[in-house]
Amino acid sequence: MNKPKVFITRKWPESVEAKLKERYQVTLNEDDRPLSAGEFKSALQQYDAVCPTVCDSFPAEVINIANKRCKILANFGVGYNHIDVTAAKQQGLVITNTPGVLTHSTADIAMTLLLMSARRGAEGDRLVRSKQWQGWCPTHMLSSNVTGATLGLIGFGRIAQAMARKAHHGFDMNIIYFNPSPASEYVVDDLQATRCTNLEELLQKSDFVSLHCPGNAETKHLINSDTLKLMKVEAHLINTARGDVVDTQALIAALKKQQISGAGLDVYEGEPTVPDELLTLDNVSLLPHLGSATLSTRTAMGEKALANLDAFFAGKPLPDQVI
Ligand code: DGY
Repeated sequence: MNKPKVFITRKWPESVEAKLKERYQVTLNEDDRPLSAGEFKSALQQYDAVCPTVCDSFPAEVINIANKRCKILANFGVGYNHIDVTAAKQQGLVITNTPGVLTHSTADIAMTLLLMSARRGAEGDRLVRSKQWQGWCPTHMLSSNVTGATLGLIGFGRIAQAMARKAHHGFDMNIIYFNPSPASEYVVDDLQATRCTNLEELLQKSDFVSLHCPGNAETKHLINSDTLKLMKVEAHLINTARGDVVDTQALIAALKKQQISGAGLDVYEGEPTVPDELLTLDNVSLLPHLGSATLSTRTAMGEKALANLDAFFAGKPLPDQVI
């Protein structure tokens, strides 16, 4: 029997690509070139499975292409807000993702940004590199304490809880949380975490606010000019979730007015484009969507996508079916 035809949109870790080659008639993106909507449409027509990732856009107009051969989008990544799920459902496409394996690396990046923002790490690095540093003095680049401060988590799934553990056990932080969607199972007994009844309460009480909710219609611009006003003037906002959760223009205005102390961002509305104004501000630390970017995590994500493909083509239950 012919092996199923699989299309991979971007470069994956080599060990996983080697396994794909053994098991499938696979087309890889050796040059790691961003692909166009036209290329995605033709992949949907020519392949049994397409494996997109978080930077590939699959809106309805791509998914609704006629003469589709593809039956499954095995996404490399846990977030799938780049795929129009309603259109995929209507077209009978299966979608899978890769949850559970990027928890710690993403929580580590959230802690990195929290520390960078609190202690002005990126700004200090820029100062030294520009040879403008005049030497130590008692009032130079004063910043905020992390140890003992209150961390407010919006969304309280796996990544938020992992960050809470690092913050609480490593930095003695007080943990509070608010979950916009109904609570699932929380294992919080070692954290003494307090649940806030609403977003306002969380924003008013937190020294650091970290976002961990999915990017969707309900969470779009959850952080906006009104909600930013509720944050303490000493507070920092950390976003490792999705860019759309924050109204970027409102955040820029708040940072410019020093209405909040700082922000640490790993994700952006319309990434990889980052507004020029954000680039000029010293009180924001910027990373290029590095949350899951360790070799072992990205390999584990590839393995998960592969396990989903294997199960699909073997007619077995899918480990991570989204629809
Ligand atoms: C995901 O998997 O959705 C992450 O954003 C990738 O880092």
